[in-house]
Amino acid sequence: MKRRDFLKSAGLLAAGTALNGQLSPARTVLGNMESPQDGSLNALDLPIKPLRPNVSRQVSVIVIGAGNRGKAYSKYAELFPSALKVTGVSDILAHRCKYLSDKHGVASDMRFGHYREVFESGKKLADAVVIATPDDLHYEPCMKALELGYDVLLEKPVAQTEKECKAILAQAKKYGRIVAVCHVLRYAPYFIAMREVIRSGAIGELVSIQHMEPIQYAHMAHSYVRGNWRSSKQTTPIILAKSCHDLDMMRWIIGKPCKTIVADGSLHLFKAENAPEGAPLKCTDGCPHEATCPYSAIDIYTRKKAHLGVFDLNGNRDPEVIMQRLKDPAYSSYARCVYHCDNDQPDHYVADMVFEGGTTVAFSMEAFAPAGGRRTRVMGTTAYIEGDGSKFTITDFRTREKRVWNKKITDIPEYKDAGHGGGDLALMRDFVEAVASQDASKLSSTIDVSIESHVMGFAAERSRKSGRKEKV
Ligand SMILES: NC(=O)c1ccc[n+]([C@@H]2O[C@H](COP(=O)([O-])OP(=O)(O)OC[C@H]3O[C@@H](n4cnc5c(N)ncnc54)[C@H](O)[C@@H]3O)[C@@H](O)[C@H]2O)c1
Repeated sequence: MKRRDFLKSAGLLAAGTALNGQLSPARTVLGNMESPQDGSLNALDLPIKPLRPNVSRQVSVIVIGAGNRGKAYSKYAELFPSALKVTGVSDILAHRCKYLSDKHGVASDMRFGHYREVFESGKKLADAVVIATPDDLHYEPCMKALELGYDVLLEKPVAQTEKECKAILAQAKKYGRIVAVCHVLRYAPYFIAMREVIRSGAIGELVSIQHMEPIQYAHMAHSYVRGNWRSSKQTTPIILAKSCHDLDMMRWIIGKPCKTIVADGSLHLFKAENAPEGAPLKCTDGCPHEATCPYSAIDIYTRKKAHLGVFDLNGNRDPEVIMQRLKDPAYSSYARCVYHCDNDQPDHYVADMVFEGGTTVAFSMEAFAPAGGRRTRVMGTTAYIEGDGSKFTITDFRTREKRVWNKKITDIPEYKDAGHGGGDLALMRDFVEAVASQDASKLSSTIDVSIESHVMGFAAERSRKSGRKEKV
């Protein structure tokens, strides 16, 4: 085929076209599919897979940990009740267990406190469990659930050590169970489309990737300075706690194992020696810097109304109620001055990786950014991709022509409230399909590869601490 004919058939002569996703129904959809590997850009046109699952029976699930993530995944049962039923809930906080149980009509004998109560009878009480407890409480319930024959939707990180991660993998194999690790970005249409374009050969050979994860200054303060993931020892190092998604994404896009990794980074700002003069231990204690500090808890929560999920407000956004929560001992750790917390997670972190075949990745995780939204640049031998987390552009070297992927998933009603670019509920769709049909291949993130990207994270952290390049 002549180059001009090829470009025409690939649609490359229509410069700068933003695609609208309207395609003939005969086309395959984005998701668990093979992309057209003919060097064309047809992969750009693939429609987004609907959230409705293709199942012939209802799957029952016990949600362990009725916090933010437990609630997010349970939404799928509200959207598609004939496919998924929440039949049990476990949380040590009685009000959280009650809230989610009431929402799903859970029977009184299926409302549990500690997750150990779920397993006490030694019997399997549902098809699957969702494990959405804090990072240090993944290993034990997951091992027990597998032993009792449950399929498992397991929040990341899989576990706190490489040894425990590998033990979970071995347990899943021993009992022949399905484990879906919540690497939700793999299920987001934006990342699926980017991967399919690369796999189609439309950028030539993949040579290198620059990938940046801007955590965003207030999200850093909320989660990694004041909040649940502030301590690398109680949870996991931030390269896993926050960026295991990104390591997994790189492994998934490249499609080959990582061979070496070298990392660096540190905690620059959020420590006592940087506290401005006169800053009290809590923002609510009359801090003289409250009006100007970008990390003020009063500003982040009561004015900007960000990250309110931890306050059990059930939709109430009244600033006075939020202020009461900040003063309530059950929640007041979120009122702490960011310079007076018991945190150790780095606020900037870089990692260079080399994958089998020589593809390189330069990764950077940054607290100090005004907004989140992963930025990715992909260098191929014939074209280049640049993406901002919701839209990406492919520039062809020879023709200089650009094609854009810019589908608004928020325009699709069922995706409207799906977090992580649609990934949260798309993962649930694949999990429900996998459990209903007992076919793990419906999942994008099988346990084997998920463990591999966790091993990359542990190697990165060893490298950051030792200054050495680590083999993966
Ligand atoms: N996949 C993602 O993108 C993503 C995003 C955020 C968080 N996470 C992970 O999800 C997990 C949960 O995070 P979250 O934000 O929902 O936290 P959360 O604190 O909102 O929820 C955790 C819940 O577990 C409950 N719990 C604690 N100990 C328990 C026990 N022994 N038995 C039963 N319940 C118990 C807590 O009371 C709480 O309600 C964490 O591991 C986190 O790292 C993943």
